[in-house]
Amino acid sequence: MSQAAKQRVLTGITTTGTPHLGNYVGAIRPAIAASRDTSMESFFFLADYHALIKCQDPDHVAESSREIAATWLALGLDTEQAVFYRQSDIPEVQELTWILTCNTAKGLMNRAHAYKAAVQDNEAAGEDPDFGITMGLFNYPVLMAADILLFNAHRVPVGRDQIQHLEMARDIAQRFNHNYAELFTLPEAVVDDNVAVLQGLDGRKMSKSYGNTIPLFLPEKQLKKHINKIKTNLLEPGEPKDPDDSTVFQVWSAFASPDETARMRREFENGIAWGEAKKQLFELVNGELAPAREEYNRLLQDPAYIESVLQRGAEKAREHSVPLLASVREAVGIRRMA
Ligand code: TRP
Repeated sequence: MSQAAKQRVLTGITTTGTPHLGNYVGAIRPAIAASRDTSMESFFFLADYHALIKCQDPDHVAESSREIAATWLALGLDTEQAVFYRQSDIPEVQELTWILTCNTAKGLMNRAHAYKAAVQDNEAAGEDPDFGITMGLFNYPVLMAADILLFNAHRVPVGRDQIQHLEMARDIAQRFNHNYAELFTLPEAVVDDNVAVLQGLDGRKMSKSYGNTIPLFLPEKQLKKHINKIKTNLLEPGEPKDPDDSTVFQVWSAFASPDETARMRREFENGIAWGEAKKQLFELVNGELAPAREEYNRLLQDPAYIESVLQRGAEKAREHSVPLLASVREAVGIRRMA
């Protein structure tokens, strides 16, 4: 298939926080697997400008970019095949953001869920509706549209909470195409319902905001400790346990083969002790993660290497973004005089 005919898949990873098992199972593992499909082109980037919206701690922003880049590399992302870059290394993203900002209805942004939720929280607390709300939060969907449209992505794998942002990106693209020139592909959100949404230590969805996560590359001992903290009921060894009501089983199935999952289901029905189930779970998860963890720790000691991979990725990304932005400028009338 020719390059031009290939479907382009693009997704951004906001660089706040340390990746956890839920990120791994729900986003990173499927993305890396999908990037091996050579009938598609994959673009993955560290959304560090998005991180500034949520986080104003410089060291945290920097540290988190390094950890997330190391995570994807350690887990085997092939950066020859996929284009892996950092948003802030692509100046065209910001230039396009402004041009799109000037062509985006404020009323559209007023409807964004994240912004609306912040306003509602303020109103509920009796504050000024805009208390603590930055223009960054308000403009977030335009920056995200620029990320996507700049590379003419066809498909954008995201979580459910991001679907509205994809709709906005399409709206913005359509308006630009209509008013100026057909430069932008209309992107589609891809939400994979087959991907496991992992449960956290307390049985709710694993999420940083619930404080119930298991960080992905914990040292082995700590990983064991965390797994032992997964909430269970008080059933004794020998008493049958309901696998479908158990976080231990849910995490098990996200890591095990179908055969191993069927076997564990029987073990639950036969009354496996919680301690034993957790011991087996630790071995399974640790077995899958141990080689990547070693590589991760090695990479963190070699930031110059990570940086060189990102610089190479930015070069590849800019082969696309520079000519597209030139067409956009031309279309809107930002032109050389001679
Ligand atoms: N906003 C996305 C999130 O929080 C991250 C992101 C930024 C993104 N730019 C993107 C995702 C472009 C897909 C495409 O999950």
